[in-house]
Amino acid sequence: MEAVLAACRAAVDRPGRVVVLTGAGVSAESGIPTFRGKDGYWTVGAREYHPQELATHAAFETMPWEVWAWYLYRRGVCRQAEPNAGHRALVELGTAMPDRFALVTQNVDGLHRRAGNADRHVLAIHGDISQMRCADECVPDRWPIPEAVPALGKREPVSDAAKAVLVCGKCGGMARPHVLWFDESYDEPRYHFETVRAIAQDACLVVVAGTSAQTNLPWQVVTLGKRAGATIVDINIEDNPFGEIAEGSGGVIRGPAAAALTATVKSIVDHVRG
Ligand code: OAD
Repeated sequence: MEAVLAACRAAVDRPGRVVVLTGAGVSAESGIPTFRGKDGYWTVGAREYHPQELATHAAFETMPWEVWAWYLYRRGVCRQAEPNAGHRALVELGTAMPDRFALVTQNVDGLHRRAGNADRHVLAIHGDISQMRCADECVPDRWPIPEAVPALGKREPVSDAAKAVLVCGKCGGMARPHVLWFDESYDEPRYHFETVRAIAQDACLVVVAGTSAQTNLPWQVVTLGKRAGATIVDINIEDNPFGEIAEGSGGVIRGPAAAALTATVKSIVDHVRG
């Protein structure tokens, strides 16, 4: 691990952005199931769905309230979870390097913000499970899912009372969760697409933590960063495609994200504070 930490310290001595890219593995130690782990599956009627089938606009069109039930269950899991040491370490990094730090997260659980990361540092590129927006996209605005909407248990349907308030604040039509679905594309207004690409192109260091490298914009963050000369580091309990890129750059830490992020941030922060 010491060689990886030394690579991080050398990277931050160069000008540029210090980018941390997080995935579900960073929240796993807070008790939130990862996306592709065995707990990600969901049963509707007699059928078991993989998240990749449910997290789609197509599924929402054919069974909107079943999709909503899945999200309201997951929203409840996220609300019960607490930020872990990895989330808290990244708050320290933002405090130490307020003008250079960027936190690009695929997680919709809100734990980075709840840990205390400043809004301007957190780029939630897959949305936020606590928010909703118009299903017809009549306006780009988003609203918090009303407090009156309870967390649902597994197999619990959305009540009529909840359906009545899961509506667009503008046109009154059905609302949808503010999350990016598999059959949708990244964009700037909702998912910070251009901002994140620009930040990656200005990076001196990209620390990737807890992601399986299956989505497009995270790939761009790593490849654009690498092309711009950034040092790439991968933190994960398993080998993954970002690890292969990091092997030829700053290196990999094969272990749980909470401890690895804590050590990485401490090394960088101690270094920049002298
Ligand atoms: P995945 O569930 O695909 O991958 C989780 C990764 O975290 C795996 O590589 C695990 O090895 C790793 N991991 C698990 N526990 C860990 C721990 N304690 N410490 C470090 N690593 C750990 O989740 P993501 O890669 O985040 O997007 O998934 C990316 C996106 O796929 C999700 O945001 C979702 C889905 O498409 C959308 O819904 C748009």
